[in-house]
Amino acid sequence: MADNLYTEIILDLYKNPQNKGRLEKFNLETSGGNPICGDQVTFTALISNDIVEDIKFFASGCAISTASDSLLTEMVKGKKISEVKKITPEKLFEQLGGIIQTRIKCALLGLIVLKKGIEEYEKSGKKSATIKGIVV
Ligand code: FES
Repeated sequence: MADNLYTEIILDLYKNPQNKGRLEKFNLETSGGNPICGDQVTFTALISNDIVEDIKFFASGCAISTASDSLLTEMVKGKKISEVKKITPEKLFEQLGGIIQTRIKCALLGLIVLKKGIEEYEKSGKKSATIKGIVV
């Protein structure tokens, strides 16, 4: 567990987020947020042959949620959706360099929204899915 609120990894990802924006071509759009703080994230992803070919995110959120969203896009790009489904909160926290107990929800926002999107994409027969308003 990290002692500091922001690890160097989190600060770096927050200042230099990877894969920020919105894909022009995608077959999954999934978005949601935390109604208490108002933070939101949307992922657009292009999935083909069960592989996340490309993914981008846009968010209005705190440093931890934004860093986590950015890291997630890096973790899942080029991966099979079966692997994405196996990403655990612990794995994400480890990659972020640790998360203090009170900010766990921030770090999990993107993971929950992305996994729910993948679930709906699979339910669609792996064609396309748009999910909005996921409450985390
Ligand atoms: Fe809202 Fe971090 S304060 S997700």
